[in-house]
Amino acid sequence: MRNSDDRMESPQSVAVGIGRLFEQAGSQAEVDNLRALLCSAVERLAPLPGDQRNEIETQAFGAIVEGLKRFGPAALLFKGGIDFLDFACIQSLAVEAAGLFPRASEAQGHLYHPGGEVANSLSVSPELCRFMQDLVPECQPTGIASYVYYCRPGHGIPPHIDTNMFLLNVLIVLEHAYSGAPSNLVIYPDGPTPITVKLAPGDVVVFDGGSLVHAREKLGVDERLSILTIGFHPR
Ligand SMILES: [Fe+2]
Repeated sequence: MRNSDDRMESPQSVAVGIGRLFEQAGSQAEVDNLRALLCSAVERLAPLPGDQRNEIETQAFGAIVEGLKRFGPAALLFKGGIDFLDFACIQSLAVEAAGLFPRASEAQGHLYHPGGEVANSLSVSPELCRFMQDLVPECQPTGIASYVYYCRPGHGIPPHIDTNMFLLNVLIVLEHAYSGAPSNLVIYPDGPTPITVKLAPGDVVVFDGGSLVHAREKLGVDERLSILTIGFHPR
């Protein structure tokens, strides 16, 4: 990144500048606009596994990742299985997801449908709220659950940060069928080096989508992935 004298700014100074922009934002709408701008920059600058970026792009993306850390934990808060989300529970969510799929809406790189009765009751359940509050004290459920379907070759989501009304994501894998190399979740906790997160049905990840840059690799032929996302307010 260069200033008006065409001198290279350090990633640290750019990160501080990004932080100041957020601090000086006078309203939630301004913060949302800043996030949207950073989201555009992230999509352009973040390398997916195997991509090459030049030095300036790499430094600029590193600065954005550093700046975002001022606003939330840019890391996975949890990855693994959860006792109360046992096989029967995952199955009942998968059945509900499959039943709603024919009425799912098109979105960029995926389809989605609001949760049904099973997902919605899980989203505000005492077990899930207790689990989440152990990770992020004082977080509150939004009661918003959505099924996300990646079901065509090329489906996937480029690197981005979330700009929606809730930022704390609980992501539950319900189904993943593939014949070749599977699509993975990709995260960028440390800047330009992407980290591949391998997940299987029943696995759960929790992260702050507003500060952790994340992506879904493009699906291959004969691949299908269904997940449930549940939103929490950080505080
Ligand atoms: Fe996202």
